[in-house]
Amino acid sequence: MGRIRILPDQVANQIAAGEVVDRPASVVKELLENALDAGANRIRVEVEAGGRRLIRITDDGQGMNRDDALLAFERHATSKLRTADDLLSIATLGFRGEALPSIASVARVTLETATGEESAGTRVEIAGGKILHVDDAALPRGTTLAVNDLFFNTPARRKFLRAESTELAHVTALVTHYALAHPEKHFELLSATHTVLSAPPVARTAERIYQIFGKDTLAQLLPVAAEIPLERAGLPEVPPWKRDPAEPARTPGALRLTGFYSKPELQKLNRNSIYIFVNKRLIRDRLLLHAITEAYRNVIPPTSFPVVLLFLEMPPEEVDVNVHPAKTEVRFRQQSLVHDFVRDSLRTALIRARPAAGFLAALDSAPAASPSLMPPAISPLPGSPDSEPLPLRNTDPAAFQATRADAESFELTPRLPTPVSGKLPFAFNGLPAGGWPNGGQDRKAWGEAAAALFQSASLPAAGDCSPGTGDADGLNPAAQTAVVEAEQAAANLNQLGSLRPLGQLRESFILATGEDGLWIIDQHVAHERILFEKILRDRQVEKVQRQRLLMPLLVELKASQMVIFARIAEELERNGFAVEPFGPHTLAVKSSPVGLEGAALERMLTEVIEQSSADSDEPSQNQDLTALRTRIAASIACHSAIKVNTPLDPARMEWLLLELARTSHPTNCPHGRPIALMYSWKEIQRAFHRI
Ligand SMILES: Nc1ncnc2c1ncn2[C@@H]1O[C@H](COP(=O)(O)OP(=O)(O)OP(=O)(O)O)[C@@H](O)[C@H]1O
Ligand SMILES: [Mg+2]
Repeated sequence: MGRIRILPDQVANQIAAGEVVDRPASVVKELLENALDAGANRIRVEVEAGGRRLIRITDDGQGMNRDDALLAFERHATSKLRTADDLLSIATLGFRGEALPSIASVARVTLETATGEESAGTRVEIAGGKILHVDDAALPRGTTLAVNDLFFNTPARRKFLRAESTELAHVTALVTHYALAHPEKHFELLSATHTVLSAPPVARTAERIYQIFGKDTLAQLLPVAAEIPLERAGLPEVPPWKRDPAEPARTPGALRLTGFYSKPELQKLNRNSIYIFVNKRLIRDRLLLHAITEAYRNVIPPTSFPVVLLFLEMPPEEVDVNVHPAKTEVRFRQQSLVHDFVRDSLRTALIRARPAAGFLAALDSAPAASPSLMPPAISPLPGSPDSEPLPLRNTDPAAFQATRADAESFELTPRLPTPVSGKLPFAFNGLPAGGWPNGGQDRKAWGEAAAALFQSASLPAAGDCSPGTGDADGLNPAAQTAVVEAEQAAANLNQLGSLRPLGQLRESFILATGEDGLWIIDQHVAHERILFEKILRDRQVEKVQRQRLLMPLLVELKASQMVIFARIAEELERNGFAVEPFGPHTLAVKSSPVGLEGAALERMLTEVIEQSSADSDEPSQNQDLTALRTRIAASIACHSAIKVNTPLDPARMEWLLLELARTSHPTNCPHGRPIALMYSWKEIQRAFHRI
């Protein structure tokens, strides 16, 4: 007799469940996705004991009739996919027909569902994959799925579950994500003891962010919106014999991005606050994480991460969602196009907005000191190992090792707005106050896109908002004011050039006044930013200014450092250095970039050599070369910039502010420290109790 056997369905389902369901949050994810696919507008999630004892999801979607309710628990039973061709353009969140049978094989499940069209609804009870009861029941339209005793029949799995609070944190993170992606829907998450999250429908993502994370987070975020047409390239052509002459020709469509990104002052120790949605599907994607990190390169420190909420929309043919068992990863048909689009859109948005850092916000924003503004446990999507370092080049490996330090202290307190009456100013005003860097050419496109995100028109007018309706009617007036204030608070650094310097504080910080308030500028890092951008520019066009030293400077190095020096010598030379070996452990520096001399020159050289030791062995790789170039520029800038404790005359201060205003990123030095802080006129008035 042969040794090969077909596994019983129950065992096959349990094996599939191993991939699909690994913790309560993954059950919640599957059921939430089903509810969204069913067109639900109101979704209520209840959990007990972190979801181990009970997960119940109730939706008001289209429901199922009796036949479908039974079929839904069969493997590969789905209403979302018919032919293999459909796999090329999946527009629903589910498509495999695996979630329900997998969940039902490792838990006791009760399904109650009704379409609202038949006279009765259906109740199905299943335990460990076996149907126990099927009854008619009087039910409203929609579906309720209760999952009891998860992993009751797979003790090995149950052992891997973490503390109830941790599991609840993961569930909360998940519901939060989906709530962010669907502001127009009503989401509720209830634990046995309290309401963890309650998010009534609102018109715009900005309001949803306010509902979930509160005013402070919203105030530190800026909107981004961009769009490019997609090339026909890469799209699969329908073969001629399958073409329907009546059907209009397919156009390649567009790649669209909307969302929010944090001001450089807000820095996180890990990437848990980066949320990426592709066609409203929550995903984790190394390529896009890399693009985001690149956008913030030399604006925040390499070991810090921004808060980003990114919604990418593209035709379903452009993205393959069928590449991961838990559907948390996707593959783009035009990978590098998507990567560069995300990086460039964010980078351009940052350059345009040039957000000014508030004094008090900056105090709180050092990554080590700040408690996570976003629910920290959000990052690990079920089924995706989070701590894996990214294999992409040009990344500091340490930077991608997500530290989970704050992941355990999770607590999300949804801010339920308190009702306040009063009249409201409400207008979109997210445009740069100091005008448009390119003379206003793309003002229209950007303005329209951003306005769509912050659409004031779709909000009820102030008078329509009856105070006290903190629920299904959307945000109350106080909340709306907060949203508007946060949107308008985007003071920017364009005015730096017109500030009036008053003097120095301890010969280290420039004090200056402007229309918006009192400014404090760190003279060293300001100059550092100016030099950094100039050095990179000069290097780009090979116009580095060098100076011959009167006496060669001798620099002692260890043997290992000499090896690294040899690797980067060519790039150093292109940056204005003339360095020759002078014995086995000594270098003789004969010329250097202008402004760099003596001890500072020596420190700069050893610093770059030290920093380059972590590099790979292949400096020829483009990305590594860019990283090296930026590192050299940052180091030269740092060591030749005006120091603290240096007196400056008014003309020099004015020059510094003017030059700073001309840089692309006057917000932060190349190492990520803030350059200019502002005490806004409003804050000053408030502090003096004048308003
Ligand atoms: N909440 C719901 N409301 C209405 N129909 C539902 C609901 N949940 C599931 N269904 C129906 O049951 C079918 C099976 O659901 P299941 O989640 O197992 O598979 P799927 O969503 O099609 O694919 P995937 O395994 O990728 O999630 C769905 O295709 C859908 O028709
Ligand atoms: Mg599903």
